[in-house]
Amino acid sequence: MIQTMESRAPRARQAKNEHSTATMRAAAIDAFGGPEVLTIHTLPVPKPEPLEVLIALDTSGVGVWDAEMRAGWVPDGRPRFPLVLGTDGAGTVAAVGSRIRRFKVGDFVYSYSFYNRKGGFYAEYVAVPADKVAHVPEGRDLRHAGAIPTTGLTALQGIDDALHLKRGETIVIHGAAGGVGSLAIQFAKLRKARVFATATGDDGVEFVRFLGADAAVDGRGDDITLAARTFAPDGADAVLGLVGDGLSFCLDAMRSGGRFAYPNGVEPVPKKRQGIQFIPYDAVPGVRQFERLNRAVEAADLQVPIDAEYPLEDASKAHERLAAGHVLGKIVLRVR
Ligand SMILES: NC(=O)c1ccc[n+]([C@@H]2O[C@H](COP(=O)([O-])OP(=O)(O)OC[C@H]3O[C@@H](n4cnc5c(N)ncnc54)[C@H](OP(=O)(O)O)[C@@H]3O)[C@@H](O)[C@H]2O)c1
Repeated sequence: MIQTMESRAPRARQAKNEHSTATMRAAAIDAFGGPEVLTIHTLPVPKPEPLEVLIALDTSGVGVWDAEMRAGWVPDGRPRFPLVLGTDGAGTVAAVGSRIRRFKVGDFVYSYSFYNRKGGFYAEYVAVPADKVAHVPEGRDLRHAGAIPTTGLTALQGIDDALHLKRGETIVIHGAAGGVGSLAIQFAKLRKARVFATATGDDGVEFVRFLGADAAVDGRGDDITLAARTFAPDGADAVLGLVGDGLSFCLDAMRSGGRFAYPNGVEPVPKKRQGIQFIPYDAVPGVRQFERLNRAVEAADLQVPIDAEYPLEDASKAHERLAAGHVLGKIVLRVR
């Protein structure tokens, strides 16, 4: 357990941690490979710098990008082993850096920090730049909050910042039953758009309808273009592409002048087409971004579907589940 004692004198304000232990459990890799390379390590608890927050994690998100890193992809091409995976999660503030005023020890927070410099979120503690941390939205428990940050920011920024989706417009969300899509459906409905969703299997189609899609088809078995054209006879105004397979069929259903957005990582991306605006984007964390996310989560009364959860020790099993596919919503690790 970590506690923080801070001096009342501002100039002496320090992130002073009292550790009963200086180490923590973390699921990390020593080399790239399959799910089996993900094992429990005992590592030093990271120390927060003046502008950082130390979070005692309750729940960490598991995403397809984690599996890509485990298998050999790191953004800077210079992995430092042991590498702790995980880009997001929720927990309790355990300590704050000397210049942090927005948070105090004990606050319930959630965070998104891609390829976090001081180690990822598959751990008991993570030290994160404070601008990538926010208080959990009203009424959310840590388990569900931990499943939101990466996918929630990606979904909301796709709908609002990339597509500027407006009331009454039609949107095709392709790959809508996954982590990003299950939240994007709800944010698109919050903006009062008409939503056509694709998923896989009868259960996937039922799932996206349950989350609010006005119409849905099986993107592997059904004729996406025909169904989307029936839904939007003048052509869809927008497409949010969350999987490459079948994506070109969605573009075939767009009107001229339509907007097509996809988060980087979606592959393959169809060839550019005349009259369609292509908008690749990355999710961006930040104080204002999290304020907007919190407002949207609360306004949408967001449902955060968790398909499966695993204890931190079973991070490799969580990755096996991810590799098996057909995750409806999100997978999480329970750290505490
Ligand atoms: N750049 C960024 O900032 C950023 C941030 C977050 C995510 N991303 C990227 O965004 C993408 C989506 O992430 P995610 O977490 O939502 O992934 P995900 O959970 O794997 O969702 C993808 C969904 O697409 C479905 N699908 C596959 N083929 C389909 C088809 N032909 N028709 C309809 N649905 C189909 C999958 O179903 P099955 O499992 O049944 O095949 C799955 O439900 C990933 O590529 C990720 O890397 C990028």
